[in-house]
Amino acid sequence: MKTLLRRILIAGAAVFVALQIAPVFPRTNPAAAATSGIHNQVEVPAEMDAILRRACWNCHSNDTKWPWYGYVAPASWLIARDVDKAREIMNFSVWTEQAGKKLQMAVGMLAASCADVNIGRMPKPEYVFLHSEAMLTEADKQGFCEWTKREGKRLLVLKRKQAAASAP
Ligand code: HEC
Repeated sequence: MKTLLRRILIAGAAVFVALQIAPVFPRTNPAAAATSGIHNQVEVPAEMDAILRRACWNCHSNDTKWPWYGYVAPASWLIARDVDKAREIMNFSVWTEQAGKKLQMAVGMLAASCADVNIGRMPKPEYVFLHSEAMLTEADKQGFCEWTKREGKRLLVLKRKQAAASAP
């Protein structure tokens, strides 16, 4: 019985070591032009900037602070995959080239952010579990949604003005 347990432990350790050399999504923080950040299009007041940075930034930007367990498989796979998917959908570092490439896209992404924050889908609950600083209070959520709505309206008005200006 004892030898069986020992064999299982040794096999487990071997698998763990083998996992570490498997290829993963790259854990990189690609450089982004300062002119591409969300702040170039969306007016982000200091309190909202603080919320974005503490609750969203690690996944939805190129300035990810990779935790030490982000380097240990299999946790590293899940984290790298999450960051990869999150950046692909909405990346604050390259906002004007991506989620905010068109004004109406930016408006949609702001509205989706409000909805996701409201129902607690974002920041991801498993992330909040490990990063208590990302927890949003009811007041934070309310302030966040008021801001996304205000900015959404402002961007829509801007879009109409641009359309009117380019009309023949
Ligand atoms: C732990 C990483 C992580 C954090 C932190 C995080 N997100 Fe996400 N987010 C994701 C991933 C992964 C996706 C894409 C897949 C999915 O929807 O689960 C996503 C998708 C989204 C989408 C896409 C639209 C949708 O509804 O599917 C929005 C909007 C969004 N996140 C907003 C936010 C906001 C706002 C914050 C901060 C308040 C935030 N996220 C924090 C990982 C994260």
